[in-house]
Amino acid sequence: MDRLYYGGDYNPEHWSPEVWDEDLKLMAEASVSMVTVGIFSWAQVEPRPGEYDFGWFDTVMDKLAAGGVDACLATMTASPPPWLSQRHPEILPVRVDGTRLSAGARQQFCPSSPVYREHAARLVEQVATRYAGHPALKMWHIGNEFGCHIRACYCDVSAAAFRDWLRDRYQSIEALNAAWSTTFWSQRYGDWAEIEPPRVAPTFPNPAQQLDYHRFSSDASLGCYLTEREVLSRVTPGVPVTTNFVGLVQKALDWHSWTPHEDVVSLDSYPDPYDPRGHVEAAFAYDLVRSTKDGQPWLLLEQAPSAVNWRTRNSPKPPGAMRLGSWQAVARGAAAVLFFQWRQTAGGAEKFHSAMVPHGGRDTRAYREVADLGRELASVPQLAGSRVKADVAILHDWNSWWALELDSHPSDDLRQLDAHLAHYAPLFDANVTCDVVRPTRELSGYKLVVVPNLYLMDAGVAENLRSYVAGGGHLVVSFFSGIVDENDRAYLGGYPAPLRDVLGLKVDEFWPLPEGGSIGLSVDGTGASATIWSEWVETEGASVVATFGDGELAGRPGVTRNTFGDGVAWYLATRPDAATLRALLDRITAEAGVSPVLPGLPEGVQAVVRHGAEGQYLFLLNHGAEAVTVTLPSPAPDLLTDPGRPTEAVLLAPRGVAVLLGSFT
Ligand code: GAL
Repeated sequence: MDRLYYGGDYNPEHWSPEVWDEDLKLMAEASVSMVTVGIFSWAQVEPRPGEYDFGWFDTVMDKLAAGGVDACLATMTASPPPWLSQRHPEILPVRVDGTRLSAGARQQFCPSSPVYREHAARLVEQVATRYAGHPALKMWHIGNEFGCHIRACYCDVSAAAFRDWLRDRYQSIEALNAAWSTTFWSQRYGDWAEIEPPRVAPTFPNPAQQLDYHRFSSDASLGCYLTEREVLSRVTPGVPVTTNFVGLVQKALDWHSWTPHEDVVSLDSYPDPYDPRGHVEAAFAYDLVRSTKDGQPWLLLEQAPSAVNWRTRNSPKPPGAMRLGSWQAVARGAAAVLFFQWRQTAGGAEKFHSAMVPHGGRDTRAYREVADLGRELASVPQLAGSRVKADVAILHDWNSWWALELDSHPSDDLRQLDAHLAHYAPLFDANVTCDVVRPTRELSGYKLVVVPNLYLMDAGVAENLRSYVAGGGHLVVSFFSGIVDENDRAYLGGYPAPLRDVLGLKVDEFWPLPEGGSIGLSVDGTGASATIWSEWVETEGASVVATFGDGELAGRPGVTRNTFGDGVAWYLATRPDAATLRALLDRITAEAGVSPVLPGLPEGVQAVVRHGAEGQYLFLLNHGAEAVTVTLPSPAPDLLTDPGRPTEAVLLAPRGVAVLLGSFT
């Protein structure tokens, strides 16, 4: 990446060729350097089976090349044309309740369908062969947001594919019966053919079967992706390949199993402008997507210039918010800022979704902000290859997420992303940079590892955490972690069995709180409160930092600290209120030797550093409503205002941004 790419989804098929000419002019004016093109073009380029019409698309590609705009060229397979499902209705996906979905929207394909995959591969072969070597072709964009609308399909084709997937995983039906605990409720299988997807059943379907269906469904979509990737690798080796993950964080796909097959990872991000803390959730997603490729720059492939159309109420982004959000993505490692979409369509379901060129055209606030940001990003190409570094890792695992949110658990209030954000937000507010990593990753490079609700923990992960702490690491584990193995079978002998020695305690019983309930917590004698959960903890060497303040558990441990080997392991038996969790994490980070990017920043200012060849880039982003002044540790120039003149203090307007070059950490 030699610059920060800027642009958006470009859907020229909505417009006449005269508009394409105006598009190119405006793209130049707005410093657009990349467009994602062709995403929904299948019906236009293959109007009848096997009959291709690429002429118009050639013109578009040539115009892009002439205009110096790179194409992130879509494989065009995201929305099959009506003729395909009419000829092969069996490609249409089926919901868990047996409803077969219709064509007429998009993503109307069963990911396991060999018919869909075959037609998609045939089209990709055509597209790749035609545009191999085209000067506009920079990168491939496979499909679009796999798993966005169709998270899982329950049709008979999927059922057969599920059985194959299970045969592969378990080899024998006995092994499957053991893994799925099928002695329970007389569920024992005698033959693979008896197994179905976990469709709507009289009551809770087998949890291990549900968990495996999540895994299978992620793999089924990955299978579609890999089918296309194989064609591209063969026809255009050397052209990088990506696909855009659904933001903010998507439950349906295990990104960790996808990203090894991508050359660069991409994310779409749509925080709600009505949500004053939306940027925190967005930051979490950026830290996660960056960490899936161990810090390699990633692409923000879609965001809204202003309002979306798909929430029940859609707020525009107020002036400056789009710029601030875009810089936040760059601060957290993005090497591209793209939008959905270039030109707002007159018809179709997304006609009220904002675009870089709105219905009102060039003379609009949105376009002016878009063009200004384009120029600004183009002025700092040196940022593109720099990287974010973090001392803190938060563990995230899709298997555990899927298992945590299955039915028939002690409480329905356990939500993985809530748990993540509860622990991430105080670190974010303290300007402590985090990676969000898979639990199997080597952890010794981190000073602190935070484990919110890692309910499913296989023996390898437990061992990873044990050796991390034994080797001197600092660990924070929240409640209901390390409860089951990879088959959702509870570990016996006192929770959380695989970590009892590390944490120096045993959980005897779970005491989830009633809906909306809270419980008192006494931290070093100071009263606080907590929500969601409490539990009966017996210490086995850990010291008690906080006790429950009221109810049946009054006086029993709520937060503990244990030394293990050369390290320290903390345990949170509840969800302390935000201020208390912040104070605890401040204490824990200080003990672990973790520093904020800059100490003492005004409330609402986000600070992140990217490390580059010529120095460190400090990003300061003001999410507050007031202007603030930030004094720098040493004079540094703001690359966005006056790159030639070092300054000692930066004045940040509300939604203001500064990018300083210097040495800060
Ligand atoms: C994304 C999708 C785009 C567009 C956008 C609207 O999920 O990839 O095609 O629909 O949402 O916000």
